Amino acid sequence: MAPNGTSAVGAQPYTEEQLDFCRRLPKVERHAHLNGSVRQSTLQELYKKTSEGTSTSSAASVAIAKGDTRNLSEMFAVFGVVHHVVRGAELLTRVTREVLEDMSADGVVYAELRTTPREHQDVGLDKRAYIEAVLQGIEEHRRLAKDGVCIARLILSIDRKDPVTVAEDTVNLAIEYSNRGVVGLDLCGDPALGWGRWRQDWEPAFERGRKQAGLKVTLHAAEMAGMDEEMADMLAWGPDSLGHVCFLSPGEELRLFESRTPVELCLSSNVLSKSVESYSAHHFGRFLERGHPLAICTDDVLVFSSPLSREYALAMSTFGLDEAKVTDLARDAFETSFLEKGRDYNEVLARLRAPS
Ligand code: IMP
Ligand code: ZN
Repeated sequence: MAPNGTSAVGAQPYTEEQLDFCRRLPKVERHAHLNGSVRQSTLQELYKKTSEGTSTSSAASVAIAKGDTRNLSEMFAVFGVVHHVVRGAELLTRVTREVLEDMSADGVVYAELRTTPREHQDVGLDKRAYIEAVLQGIEEHRRLAKDGVCIARLILSIDRKDPVTVAEDTVNLAIEYSNRGVVGLDLCGDPALGWGRWRQDWEPAFERGRKQAGLKVTLHAAEMAGMDEEMADMLAWGPDSLGHVCFLSPGEELRLFESRTPVELCLSSNVLSKSVESYSAHHFGRFLERGHPLAICTDDVLVFSSPLSREYALAMSTFGLDEAKVTDLARDAFETSFLEKGRDYNEVLARLRAPS
């Protein structure tokens, strides 16, 4: 990563002052996949142990090298490396705590982490234990954080490639943990492997989570060309938030604008995975101009090596935003969040309002 973003395709380089401002700005992260956000040094360490001292090249190649890009399918392949080494409750708790420590150091005051519950049969971990290990990491961070806490909630992801029975299981677990830190459900995974299943498989599952436990729903949407029909069905159902929306036809984009459904926009993820041509061509510009509710997010900081402050700095320099506008964006992100009203909500709001 170039310090001033000069290697970022089509981005205006940001200044050290802009980056510093964005680091100090209290921010909200709404779209971060747990296993895509594992600390790079931890991954290296775990990979080395797992492969007993052999090469660490696979672990190193998880992150996109400076100036390099990767298409969406190649990007999905890298998660296999992370899933191979982050196994068992202890490691899940540790990586969750570290992700939040890193976010806190970057000025993030509230984060919605999302993860796909998995069984780790080799170490006797079931999905319930998986969720509890992640919640434990959130709790430990809160208890142990020395330099400010990043308050966090969990979203459970449903992977498009999985059978509907897995989705139903995940919804059951989200309902079960809905008053213990799980606030929502997400549809994620490689769109090339699972599109065209919205009406039959996913909509009934999300509908049940929403009805039975008031869970919020966010959907990875329009991540590749030709997904207009699914997008139309999703909008007709009415999700609480949508991620990426890189490949919208003009008609669907207009429908999205009219729906006012908030969007999570991940500039580096979209550019480095070749979903969007360049930073300057990113639809963030159009959405901002339109006043559409949005949150700037990282997606997978391990893969794209760009923490939230850098994403804000890139938006700031590329789209000519001043400090007041960037501050508004951080607060707008919170407005679109799934955090329930109460003590934590008030605390996050107070920290967002405090001068940086
Ligand atoms: P996990 O759910 O914590 O294991 O995080 C990694 C998973 O997040 C991957 O296996 C993908 O299913 C999902 N993911 C990460 N980035 C993206 C994305 O850009 N689009 C869709 N799914 C993603
Ligand atoms: Zn994502």
